[in-house]
Amino acid sequence: MQYFIDSANAAVIAALCRDFPVAGVTTNPTIIAREKGDFRTVLLAVRKAVGDRLLHAQVTAETAEGMCADARDLRALAGEPFAVKIPVTREGLRAIPMLKAEGFTVTATAVFSPTQAMLAAEAGADYAAPYINRFDTVCGDGIRLVNDIALLYAQNGYATKILAASFKNAMQIAEVMAAGAQSVTLAPDLFDGMLSHPMTDLAMDAFRRDWAGVYGDASVQDLLRE
Ligand code: G3P
Repeated sequence: MQYFIDSANAAVIAALCRDFPVAGVTTNPTIIAREKGDFRTVLLAVRKAVGDRLLHAQVTAETAEGMCADARDLRALAGEPFAVKIPVTREGLRAIPMLKAEGFTVTATAVFSPTQAMLAAEAGADYAAPYINRFDTVCGDGIRLVNDIALLYAQNGYATKILAASFKNAMQIAEVMAAGAQSVTLAPDLFDGMLSHPMTDLAMDAFRRDWAGVYGDASVQDLLRE
């Protein structure tokens, strides 16, 4: 399982990369714009924070040729390892094999149906990114979507990985992992959401209390080195 950070905030990315098993970062035009800074500066700060993990950036051009030009410039600026995000439009579908021929890692993004995911895989995309919560919000079933894509990819022998995106809670993340997603991209607060559990906190409280009842303030280090 690969965990990506869906953010362009360098400080937040650096902190999460320090503590969690992070595979990289995903950005899109909305996420970059949220930082409200000079685009080059924002992207370079993200690269510095994410180090040699995979950095995704998205094209804004809407023709295949324009997307390829965006991809080249983004990769030149951001450096490797780099993945370009291409929306699953007709022009995007045309751009994917062109980008693969130039050696790009390609993520097909804004996927909301199994047919879009199938076309992206056949075009050669390395990742396909279904948007779970946004689909649930319009009475879709994001988990079923991932399940169907995973089944279809397996049936067709595609190596394309499912990069599930757009979550509002840890339950959705657990469900897409069980449904067959090989990677997820998460808003920063969801990393803590995946990890924290009140029963873990209760267990920690009991460990502290029981230890202190016998050893007081002494730590393991204190006791083993005395
Ligand atoms: O990576 C896609 C993602 O940014 C969409 O997430 O939370 O805006 O629906 P959200």
